[in-house]
Amino acid sequence: MVGAGYVGLVSGACFADFGHEVVCVDKDPAKIESLRAGHIPIFEPGLEETVAANVRAGRLSFSTDLAAAVPQADAVFIAVGTPSRRGDGFADLSHVYAAAREIAASLEGYTVVVTKSTVPVGTGDEVDRIIRETRPGAAFSVVSNPEFLREGAAIEDFKRPDRIVIGAEDQRGAELVAELYRPLYLNAAPVLTMGRRTAELTKYAANAFLALKVTFINEIADLCEQVGANVQEVARGIGLDKRIGGKFLHAGPGYGGSCFPKDTLALTKTAQNAGAPLRLVETVVAVNDQRKVAMARKVIAACGGSVRGRTIGVLGLTFKPNTDDMRDAPSLAIVAALQDAGARIRAFDPEGMENAASVLDGVDYTRDAYECAEGADALVLITEWDSFRALDLERLKAAMAGRIVVDLRNVYRPDEMSRRGFAYVSIGRPD
Ligand code: UGA
Repeated sequence: MVGAGYVGLVSGACFADFGHEVVCVDKDPAKIESLRAGHIPIFEPGLEETVAANVRAGRLSFSTDLAAAVPQADAVFIAVGTPSRRGDGFADLSHVYAAAREIAASLEGYTVVVTKSTVPVGTGDEVDRIIRETRPGAAFSVVSNPEFLREGAAIEDFKRPDRIVIGAEDQRGAELVAELYRPLYLNAAPVLTMGRRTAELTKYAANAFLALKVTFINEIADLCEQVGANVQEVARGIGLDKRIGGKFLHAGPGYGGSCFPKDTLALTKTAQNAGAPLRLVETVVAVNDQRKVAMARKVIAACGGSVRGRTIGVLGLTFKPNTDDMRDAPSLAIVAALQDAGARIRAFDPEGMENAASVLDGVDYTRDAYECAEGADALVLITEWDSFRALDLERLKAAMAGRIVVDLRNVYRPDEMSRRGFAYVSIGRPD
């Protein structure tokens, strides 16, 4: 497994759990050192235990030495980062191609090289070309096997997938990768074998469609606010139609994270270059970007039109619960816009404060939600951590200087909040 980041670690640990022998390789010696010492650099439920159990069982190990790990491997996964390239938003594939070159140099015997990183259509062809060029005559297949893991539920998603997508240009490669997932056949997970380009596109199309669903319900929420309707009831009313499905219809402050923003943008670039622009997805990207700033305006409006000199307590900073990931979190744009408007920000997040502190300046981080509420004129809930659902609302109110609560995830009930004397604003619901 080349790349001991989020995808590489989760996939490596789960493959080891299936009984395979896995070496996770990373260039960063400090990361490998700390993984060897049992320290997992990310917060992901169940990951630490899965890693520890498989290290103990001798099936999982960590190394910086790619050249030593590759010759013995039947399959080598490329799970390195593909960040947005500065300037044009296209996926930066330099790490993928560098890995392909290094892998090629060490191949021994027939090996399947699998792209697990999210890569634009045609990347597998280029990996194939690079390996052929570096090692003419080597016996290998290049297969695309995209991941559909959600942060916070990644182990569960790996072990109980809705489907496994295998994109291959030859049967031998496809069969070898399918064999790695054999333990999952018991769960009747469908294995879809298709062409390599089709598999690459399937990954992007899945993320773009989900981002589109979220953006659609967010716009319906805005309309609900204007016409006095309730977005949660609309979502349920449409979601029970099996053709639509009820998931990913929770209105909120806009999608964030390490995948949707990057992948939707990269897909629009691929489509433009291919002469088949995806106008719907382009609109989703633009609407979602605007939404984050619109959320700050919503808070300012709830505070009577100005937050200058006001103290605002922010509950939840990560892009979603059960992760410490701050990448493209809506909180980044919202907090910055509130600070620009003159507000003082206090904040609490159960797991994300360390990462938040490296990207958000001038914020007072607190020990818990109650301390965050102390002296606050308004509270803004940005991430729906479970622990915020059952807060003692009277204690929260007593700690606050004001009464304003802006709930960007519809965690609380409007009737209860107003009964308790809060000035409560949520998303797409009558106040
Ligand atoms: C997403 C996909 O769900 C995974 O299938 C995919 O494998 C992964 O990207 C990836 O490409 O690696 P993830 O980024 O972990 O997973 O997060 P999601 O649970 O999909 O949430 C994305 C964003 O949408 C979050 O900011 C979340 O708050 C928001 N969202 C999601 C909503 O606002 N409403 C919803 O109903 C659902």
